[in-house]
Amino acid sequence: MSTINYNRWRDMLVTPVDTERFEWVHQHWPARADDVFIASFPKSGTTWTQQIVRLIYSGGLIHDSDPPLHAIIPWLDDSEDLPDLSVVDTMNSPRVFKSHNPYHLLPQKLTASNRLIYVTRNAKDTAVSMYFHTFGFKMYEYDESIEHFIGEFMAGRVEYGPYWTHLGSWYQQCERSNILVLHYEEMQRDLAATVERVAHFLDQPLTIEDINRITELSTFSSMKKDPRTSMQLWDEEQRKPGMPFMRKGETGDWANHFTPELAQAFDRAFKVKMAGINWSW
Ligand code: A3P
Repeated sequence: MSTINYNRWRDMLVTPVDTERFEWVHQHWPARADDVFIASFPKSGTTWTQQIVRLIYSGGLIHDSDPPLHAIIPWLDDSEDLPDLSVVDTMNSPRVFKSHNPYHLLPQKLTASNRLIYVTRNAKDTAVSMYFHTFGFKMYEYDESIEHFIGEFMAGRVEYGPYWTHLGSWYQQCERSNILVLHYEEMQRDLAATVERVAHFLDQPLTIEDINRITELSTFSSMKKDPRTSMQLWDEEQRKPGMPFMRKGETGDWANHFTPELAQAFDRAFKVKMAGINWSW
């Protein structure tokens, strides 16, 4: 039994929202041939990738009247975030959506014409980020220590987990030409190159000026400044005080939260669990 307030859908722990929505989207949701999905294990850089993709489609422009990022690139499965699913019928193509599902639980009506971007992050940083996410959002009703959460993460008792199963499901598909895999750490190393890669994958020609503008607007500090990308409304309404959604945005923060012994035990366990997944971080 998990001590975190999750729901369960098809043998997977999920966010505590309506699981009938997950099932309906998976079985019946009518995709368009040019719909794009950004998918990830939570806390791997989803919001960051959403910002890059929406800016690529807007030519790097943000208007005062633009809604928050999660309304531009909605999460179909989440009945709290998107109470009225029919609003997506009015979106212009190409529509972009977010998903936290393993590959086999994406909407069944997607085909090889749908482009899918999968973003990953090293396991220890993901676990730390997910701890602050879970502790911070009141809906999880979770007040335990980070050591406790890392134990849950290692046991696979966290939402959309286990982490290694999620990554494995996407790894098996990653050679498909309609899938682009991004790594959080590579995005940190060279954001402009990531913008270029994503634009190329989406067949969106960009000038150098566009790339520079999109890169600048996708940095952690730019996104934290804009309440529509910092998710200020979530901070105010749904999170504990002092626990912002846009937390730190760094690679290697795990070292501030793992003892050397815990890091060793984690690495040993994950070497086995992740055998065959040859992505390097
Ligand atoms: P931290 O908790 O380590 O700060 P997701 O969007 O998948 O939930 O991932 C959230 C993580 O991505 C958080 O990590 C968040 O700070 C980080 N993040 C969001 N935007 C970012 C950006 N522009 N640059 C770097 N990290 C970013």
